[in-house]
Amino acid sequence: MCGIIGYVGTDRSDAADVLLHGLSQLEYRGYDSAGIALADGALDVHKRQGELSALENALAGAEVGNQTTGIGHTRWSTHGPPSDRNAHPHTDEDGRVAVVHNGIIENYQRLRDELTAEGVDFRSDTDTEVVPHLIAGFLDEGLDREAAFRAAVDRLEGSYAVAAVFEGSETVYAARNESPLVLGVADDGTYLASDVPAFIEYTDRVIYLEDGEFARLEGDEIAVTDAEGRTVETSIETIEWDPEDAGKSGYDHYMRKEINEQPAALRDCFRGRLDELSGRVTLEEFEGVELDRPVTLVACGTSYHAALFGAQLLREWGVPAQAFLASEFEADAVPIDADSVVVGVTQSGETADTLRALREASAAGATTIAVTNVVGSSAARECDRVLYIRAGPEISVAATKTFASQQAALTMLAASLSDHRSRELVRELRSVPDRIQSVLDEGAAREVAATYADAGAYFFIGRGYNYPVALEGALKMKEITYKHAEGFAAGELKHGPLALVTEQTPVFAIVTGDGRRAEKTIGNVKEVEARGTPVVAVTDGQSEVGRYADHVLEVPPAGEITSSMVANVQLQRVAYWTAHELGRSIDKPRNLAKSVTVE
Ligand code: F6R
Repeated sequence: MCGIIGYVGTDRSDAADVLLHGLSQLEYRGYDSAGIALADGALDVHKRQGELSALENALAGAEVGNQTTGIGHTRWSTHGPPSDRNAHPHTDEDGRVAVVHNGIIENYQRLRDELTAEGVDFRSDTDTEVVPHLIAGFLDEGLDREAAFRAAVDRLEGSYAVAAVFEGSETVYAARNESPLVLGVADDGTYLASDVPAFIEYTDRVIYLEDGEFARLEGDEIAVTDAEGRTVETSIETIEWDPEDAGKSGYDHYMRKEINEQPAALRDCFRGRLDELSGRVTLEEFEGVELDRPVTLVACGTSYHAALFGAQLLREWGVPAQAFLASEFEADAVPIDADSVVVGVTQSGETADTLRALREASAAGATTIAVTNVVGSSAARECDRVLYIRAGPEISVAATKTFASQQAALTMLAASLSDHRSRELVRELRSVPDRIQSVLDEGAAREVAATYADAGAYFFIGRGYNYPVALEGALKMKEITYKHAEGFAAGELKHGPLALVTEQTPVFAIVTGDGRRAEKTIGNVKEVEARGTPVVAVTDGQSEVGRYADHVLEVPPAGEITSSMVANVQLQRVAYWTAHELGRSIDKPRNLAKSVTVE
């Protein structure tokens, strides 16, 4: 997830200011580098690693001004660590065209190899840099600017919102596929951006570009065409937007926004990594790597729950695996040597306990793998290999979309390490975003939250893949509601915790599938139901658990592995709406920090 902006002014010649202001409103989409390219004369490109302020400081000393046209970018790295050279915009070798991009170009390696063979000298590690070189190649063939831009976009596979400016031109060209792009229409110019807040200060009249469409911004005119070049009739919408809400895209809280971003985050996580025909997971990060050895996973908090899930999958597919709390790794005296594979699961890549465990493993000669969201983080830099979960920035302290993306990434890692092939699994993984969307579109979780907002405590039970989900459901609830919540393996209830259940302590039972695990958990549900305890079943309806429940939170039916990912979203929503009812500080719960850099 990155943010892009483009601007063509008619009366105004302050393109740099407009672009910088827009980027400041898009920083929530990424903040590891930023850059702008100003056009109309020679291309004038400025970019810096770090937050937008680093670019602003650099520009303060530069001669910038009087341009009418430009593009800008704020980056959340997916290919190549944060650095000046990886910052956008990217240009061709002769400085004829500059490009900004949000998304993932799946076939970039093939394109890069092709261009390199033709003698192109790449200056960054990004997937984006192929675009200006492709455009330059088409210009050399004699195509005009627009045709060259279209021809280059035509070669791209994957997701993109892409915009380009050319030297000596006051036009911005743009295209989109599966990444957001909105156009702004004003009397004194035209705008494009990943999100409305980037230009809401200047205009509230917008056109939403659809997948496969191209836009040309020239003065106060916007022309939208389809892939074949035919004119698309567009309608201009007037939108209401409170500029105060910029980063939250109109949501009350980042947490709600991030819960709702899960379908898009998962699509990015799967992009280019699943092959439906062969049923194979192809992780370019692990191409040609033989790691058929026992696996140890280390992590903290929510990431530990994802690690438990990953370890179960590895074992299911024949690889001995165990998950450890990173803070207990040393005390547990986990046997690690040069034959070990140690996976650190850490959203931030900066958690001190996890880094410490990874460093110990490294010192013992183990092969280390980071599963992380942050390119260039300590874990990413220090581990032998990295698998990025591609969830985009997560601002809310309570992890939501990163947990789903960790589950997805670990499923792919487990399939890759165990060489597990299954067309059904690949098909199911691909359908998770839509299934999560259907959960997001219904309202039962909010009703359940309102019904039990005054409860004394909350318990969560699950078996198999739903056990980590029970733990995660309870952690989310306690973090943001400040109420007592506990997750248990369903079978453990009768060994002690059953003494805690009363009519004031709802039990959330996560039951998916109709096999033995479901049957046994239903047995545990009956035990609590018999004591007058309210039961909320999170279920795909394949078993009879609904008969014993006071409320049902539905999950579209599918296999148990992927259903657990969808079920978790119902619990995130219950926690969110309960905290909402209680008026808690949802995005910044008391005593907690997003990144825990002390042991
Ligand atoms: C809970 C939460 C924490 C983190 C934990 C590890 O919502 O976010 O439990 O999961 O602090 O953080 P990372 O994944 O950054 O290592």
